[in-house]
Amino acid sequence: MIDYSQKIPNNVNLAGDRTLQRALEQWQPNYLSWWKEMGPEGSQAFDVYLRTAVSVEPSGWAHFDYVKMPDYRWGIFLTPAIGERKIHFGEHLGEDAWQDVPGEHRANLRRIIVTQGDTEPASVEQQRHLGLTAPSLYDLRNLFQVNVEEGRHLWAMVYLLHRHFGRDGREEAEALLQRRSGDRDNPRILGAFNEKTPDWLSFFMFTYFTDRDGKFQLCALAESGFDPLARTTKFMLTEEAHHMFVGESGVARILQRTAETMKALATDDPAKLRAAGVIDLPTIQRYLNFHFSVTIDLFGADQSSNAATFYSAGLKGRFEEGKRADDHRLHGLTYPVLEVADGKLVERAVPMLNALNEVLRDDYIKDSVAGVARWNRVLEKAGVETRLAVPHKAFNRRIGTLANTRVAPDGRVVSDAEWAAHEREWLATPEDRAFVASLMGRVTGRGQFAHWIAPPAAGINKQPVDFEYVRFG
Ligand SMILES: [Fe+2]
Ligand SMILES: [Fe+2]
Repeated sequence: MIDYSQKIPNNVNLAGDRTLQRALEQWQPNYLSWWKEMGPEGSQAFDVYLRTAVSVEPSGWAHFDYVKMPDYRWGIFLTPAIGERKIHFGEHLGEDAWQDVPGEHRANLRRIIVTQGDTEPASVEQQRHLGLTAPSLYDLRNLFQVNVEEGRHLWAMVYLLHRHFGRDGREEAEALLQRRSGDRDNPRILGAFNEKTPDWLSFFMFTYFTDRDGKFQLCALAESGFDPLARTTKFMLTEEAHHMFVGESGVARILQRTAETMKALATDDPAKLRAAGVIDLPTIQRYLNFHFSVTIDLFGADQSSNAATFYSAGLKGRFEEGKRADDHRLHGLTYPVLEVADGKLVERAVPMLNALNEVLRDDYIKDSVAGVARWNRVLEKAGVETRLAVPHKAFNRRIGTLANTRVAPDGRVVSDAEWAAHEREWLATPEDRAFVASLMGRVTGRGQFAHWIAPPAAGINKQPVDFEYVRFG
C-alpha cells in the first residue's frame, strides 16, 4: 500500500532513508514552483475530479475525488518486487536483476532515465494553455488528469536519480525543472517535445501518437535488468493507458461530428465543412501525418550502437521481450532497415542489435495503425467513404538515414520540387492551424460540448457525461 501520511506519498519506505527523504523534500518545493509557473495556466484553483493512485495492485488502484491540482498527491510508487527476478536478455541473461546501479552501466542508465524523465514535464509545458479552450468539462478534466500524471512520471524518474545516482542524480533532477519545451537556449531533450500543442486536435493527436511512444519506451524499460527502473516504469504504464484513451476517443469524437455533418450537408468540400464549423477530413489527415512522423523520430536513428549497448548490457529490452522466442542475445541475427538506392526506398539487412530502435519503431507503428483502423470504423459507420491512413514511415523524417530524403506519404522518394509542390497537402499548414484555432473556445456548461466534437459515449468513473467534472470555484 501507499503511505499517504507522509509529505511525499510512497511505497518505497522513504521514511527508512532519512537522507533520501530530505533530498526529495528539498526538491519538492522546486517542483511545485515549476508546476505553478509551467503547469496548466489559470487553472490552479479549480476543483478537478481526478483519480489518484492509492494502491499499486493492478486492480482498484485509482481513487476519484475533487482536488485542486497543486494539492495533487504526487508520489513515488513502484509495482511490488516479484521474487528473485532475473535479467532475461543481453550478456547478463540469467543473472540476478540489479537492485543497485552497476558501476559500468551507470552513465548509460542515467542517460536513459534523464531522457525519459525529460519528456514528462515537457508535455505538461506543451499543454499548458489548452485548459483555456477546452471543448467541455469532461475534456478539461481529462487534460488535467493527463497533466498531473505526467507530473507524477517526473517524480518517478527523479526518485531513481536521487536514490541511485548520488550528486549527479540530484543535479540532473534539478536540470529537469530548468529546461523548457521549445526554449531556444535550454530546450527539452527530444524534438517532438519542443513542438507546440496549440489546439485540441493537436492534443488528441499528441496523446494518441506521442503518449504511445511513451508506452513503448516504458515497456522496453519495464524489461530492464535494473529492477527499480523496471518496477517504476511498469507502474507508469497503468497511467499511460488513460492518456492514449484520451487521444483515441478524442479524435474518434471529432471524426464522428465531421462525418455526421458531411452526411447532413451531402458534401466533402472542406470549405463548406469549415463554414459549418467542423474540421474537414483532409485537415485531420494532415495533422495525423505531422504527429505520426514527428513521433516515430523519437525512437532514434535506425542504426544505433547505443541501442545495441543498452540491450546487450541488459538496460533496455524490446517490447514484450519475455514473449519472444529467440535467444535474447541476438548475435548473428539481422533486421531490415530502409535506405535510398537508385531513387527508391529499399530494405537492407543489418545486424539486429544495431537496429533495435527500428525494431521498437516497427512495433510502435503496428500498434498505432490498429487505432487508425478503429477511427476509420467511425467513418464507415457514418457512411462516409474517405479513410485516414498513417503515412509511410520514411515520410517527413528528421532522424536517421532517411533524414535527408524527401519521401511522399505513399512512400515514393520525391524531388525537392515535388515536395515543395505538395507539402501543403501533406502536412498541416498555418492556414489549417489557424482554422482549427478559430474553433477553440472554452465550453463550461455541464453536459455541453463544442460544436466540432461529439460527446463521449460514457463519462469518467461511471459518472454521467454531464457530470460536473471541474468546479471553477
Ligand atoms: Fe508520462
Ligand atoms: Fe503520458
